[in-house]
Amino acid sequence: MARKTIVAGNWKMNMTPSQAVKLCEELKDLVKSDTVDVVYCVPAIDIIPVVEAVKGTNVKVGAENMYYEEKGAYTGEISAEMLKDAGVEYVIIGHSERRDYFKECDCMLNKKVKKAFEAGLTPILCCGESLEQREMNVTMDWIRLQIKSDLVGVTADQVKSMVIAYEPIWAIGTGKTATTEQAQEVCKGIRDCIAEMYDAATAEAVRIQYGGSVNASNAAELFGQPDIDGGLVGGASLKADFGKIVNF
Ligand code: 13P
Repeated sequence: MARKTIVAGNWKMNMTPSQAVKLCEELKDLVKSDTVDVVYCVPAIDIIPVVEAVKGTNVKVGAENMYYEEKGAYTGEISAEMLKDAGVEYVIIGHSERRDYFKECDCMLNKKVKKAFEAGLTPILCCGESLEQREMNVTMDWIRLQIKSDLVGVTADQVKSMVIAYEPIWAIGTGKTATTEQAQEVCKGIRDCIAEMYDAATAEAVRIQYGGSVNASNAAELFGQPDIDGGLVGGASLKADFGKIVNF
């Protein structure tokens, strides 16, 4: 079965609640699609107004992070169940900015992935190498380590339903996109890793996105690669261009 393309915006720490609602209104007609799944991953405080603003459209809402504990004394954190109850369907886990600035490690991300599934959320699990790692030729070793550690105890059926985002750190917010060949090569490597860990059917089903300076002019070529099933889009998801990326 062919995989359905999924294009998700990662708003990062942008958009106040009122700006968020305005953006949803502006993008509404531009992001319409029958063939592509469209997701807005938004800051926690924007979730409730955005869920309301996209009602009746093809847009699904995602969170940018969550905590793995059920409930209790974890000041400042948001649980998977809270997200689910608010109308969230997807959650980004392990974005490189969380790994780097907030020191989230693979063992923590593994707990988050499992908790997201438990609550009925679809994880968008991020992985990616630094420029130094690429130059040292350890890209695939590093990414395989991330994927394997983050998926400990995750079942094949769960993996089939999830999304993995390959985001080379050096391409994020830099305007420096990975070449189509580089992006395809790593996304295929991730699929091969899933095949080794699980089986061919699981590898065939899992959707793998590319992220890192995706824009209206490079989306078609990137998303046209055999192992790239869409994109995780930062900066360009906050403007009208996102409609062009969705309808690449
Ligand atoms: P940019 O599209 O701004 O490079 O960000 C990519 C990203 O980090 C998406 O999660």
